[in-house]
Amino acid sequence: MSPQDAQDQRAAILTSDGPSILDALPHPVLLVAPDGVIESANMAAEIFMRCSVSVMRRHPISAFIPFGSPLLTLIEQVRERGAAVNEYKVDIGSPKIGSPKVVDINAAPVAARPGAVVLMFQERTMAEKIDRQLTSRGAARTVTGLAAMLAHEIKNPLSGIRGAAQLLEQSVGEEDRPLTQLITDETDRIVKLVDRMEVFSDERPIERTPVNIHVVLDHVKRLAENGFARNQRIIEDYDPSLPDVFANKDQLTQVFLNLVKNASEAIGDAHDGEIRIRTAFRPGVRLSVPGTEHRVSLPLEFSVEDNGPGVPDDLMPHLFEPFITTKINGSGLGLALVAKIIGDHGGVIECDSHPRHTRFRILMPAFTDQTETETETLAMNLGGM
Ligand SMILES: Nc1ncnc2c1ncn2[C@@H]1O[C@H](COP(=O)(O)OP(=O)(O)O)[C@@H](O)[C@H]1O
Ligand SMILES: [Mg+2]
Repeated sequence: MSPQDAQDQRAAILTSDGPSILDALPHPVLLVAPDGVIESANMAAEIFMRCSVSVMRRHPISAFIPFGSPLLTLIEQVRERGAAVNEYKVDIGSPKIGSPKVVDINAAPVAARPGAVVLMFQERTMAEKIDRQLTSRGAARTVTGLAAMLAHEIKNPLSGIRGAAQLLEQSVGEEDRPLTQLITDETDRIVKLVDRMEVFSDERPIERTPVNIHVVLDHVKRLAENGFARNQRIIEDYDPSLPDVFANKDQLTQVFLNLVKNASEAIGDAHDGEIRIRTAFRPGVRLSVPGTEHRVSLPLEFSVEDNGPGVPDDLMPHLFEPFITTKINGSGLGLALVAKIIGDHGGVIECDSHPRHTRFRILMPAFTDQTETETETLAMNLGGM
């Protein structure tokens, strides 16, 4: 087959009932006709554009994306140059298809039909989201030293201050007592903060056993329902056949407690607020270990979702870094700790967030006889980045 024949055949796949082949692709693929009408689209594109092919066919692509969108310019460029153009990290979000929608775009001409352009979108990749967590781990390490120092330099004088305030309390008049109370309360708060940071400086190898994640999640759910999430709805969506995870049970409890607490704080007192805890088995998920040929399997997926307002855009790139908070009394250590614990376990965490849907997704290795060595290799290699 000549290259021209091959290209014609590809165009035929797109224009006839061929999308069934393209439907197998996870990325949206669209064929834009010379007059700008969307002529054909695969299933991923229907989901992405929030619109069926039959409706799409009646509209030009400009009806779906904002005026002046870089995508329209890109299509023009492909037509003019008659050659493929790729562009990375383009936000093509709009009220119609949702925003932000940051994607990599591959746009190519169709030789058999001058003016027609094939588009493929790749939503920002998993690898990039994982990168974010890995960068944050460096930041977490800088907290390590700081935490150790703070523990010594701050906790000792604090206990002195607290003791002195309690002594004073006995001799001051009624009207000044709130002041001594304030001193003790605030010192307690600082001690608690330092205690939480000390976790970062704990470099001992973690003690792990096969853990049934659902036992951990039930416990977290009960704690939440009897405490901070008393008036909120928590929905369980579990895959009961999920194998054990090789982990430290206490640390995992801390992870989900932090995530559920954030979800709870995000929805606040919204009357339709919902927190969803989900588990699933995804045997196809594999991650390459940087610097090696090795690939580890991360088939266990745990997510915590909420329908709160979402993570602010400008926070997203720093989400897992320590001291990042938007809360008046927040420490900004919750997610940094979550990322550290998950990383130490050879897992990864990522976050997807839009208004009314925020999802923290954790991928972990399953327990097998080789788990011990595999996760250690991964934790070591990722840790060295
Ligand atoms: N489920 C969520 N929805 C919206 N924003 C969130 C969510 N989880 C975390 N965040 C944002 O990330 C920030 C950091 O969270 P975290 O590290 O737990 O610290 P803290 O809860 O003390 O602020 C929060 O202040 C909040 O802005
Ligand atoms: Mg928090």
